[in-house]
Amino acid sequence: ETAYRGSFEWSAPSNIALVKYWGKKANQIPANPSISFTLNECKTITKLAYEHKENTDGISFDFLFEGQPKDSFRPKIEKFFERVQGYLPFLKDYHFTIDTRNTFPHSSGIASSASGMAALAMNLMSLERLLNPDMTDAYFYSKASFLARLGSGSACRSVKGSVVVWGEHAEIEGSSDLFGVPFENVHDVFRSYKDTILLVDKGEKQVSSTVGHDLMHGHPFAERRFAQAHENLSITKKALTDGDVDTFIKIVESEALTLHAMMMTSMPYFILMKPNTLEIINRIWKLRAETQIPVCFTLDAGANVHVLYPENVAVKVLDFIKAELLGYCQNNQYICDEIGTGAVNL
Ligand code: PMV
Repeated sequence: ETAYRGSFEWSAPSNIALVKYWGKKANQIPANPSISFTLNECKTITKLAYEHKENTDGISFDFLFEGQPKDSFRPKIEKFFERVQGYLPFLKDYHFTIDTRNTFPHSSGIASSASGMAALAMNLMSLERLLNPDMTDAYFYSKASFLARLGSGSACRSVKGSVVVWGEHAEIEGSSDLFGVPFENVHDVFRSYKDTILLVDKGEKQVSSTVGHDLMHGHPFAERRFAQAHENLSITKKALTDGDVDTFIKIVESEALTLHAMMMTSMPYFILMKPNTLEIINRIWKLRAETQIPVCFTLDAGANVHVLYPENVAVKVLDFIKAELLGYCQNNQYICDEIGTGAVNL
């Protein structure tokens, strides 16, 4: 790679929030702190080719999805470049070709914005590091997370670490509203946690997360919710460190339902869960009550269900999922994932 022409390639994973981010201030500053598990299998792989150009009339790029031009994705990338160019002054000096693909099925209802924006941010930081070779690793990763945040808030949690905190919190040293920080003090039981994603509904989201975050302005329960997220993060932090799976389950499920409760009580109001989402939740509860297997669920801003469980019960839980839950998934589709470690330079 030279400063004139070359390419980089990174993969970045998706992540699933345990304590949810819902509501933001200006400049992608979260209204409350959040914590997530980084995933391993659900990834975006992005190659960024760059070539120095003489004209400096602005940002220019080609965008390919799975090798084919895809214009519908351009506006999101354009907006991202506009937001980050003040922090990456060299952008206007290059023409870029962005070639990207996901490891999970397109329009599966799995959001690719977190993994996609994180993968692009990693590539841009590789170019910045080529131009400024003295950069420390700490700077490289926190700035990558900072840039990813400007693309999609939750993307800042997809850069580095298995468990990541984003947003200032009194008990998490180094936590910041500007970028995600790895949370290291995690008990063994959580280091190999599983996440099986049940694809209940692959349809386009009825409500974008941008609109959803906005609806927290003037929401009747907003202030209480933001305070609750701080409390829940304290409890989750302790549970993750102590290996306290029972407490973890209580908070994680409550957070998922609270996220959806915020949507159901905003104006306008909406319901993103489907009947099958509720069927699955009830069956997970029944299994837990009857067998004491520590399995729980969480949800994103959609109908799909993430089933979370420790590795030592993986065989039993997978048998249960196959026997009882797949019938509630669209075309029996599901994705077996687990906790991962973050973006990888390919
Ligand atoms: O990153 P955004 O703006 O798409 O927001 C994502 C919000 C949730 O996925 C619902 C929760 C979270 O913390 O990831």
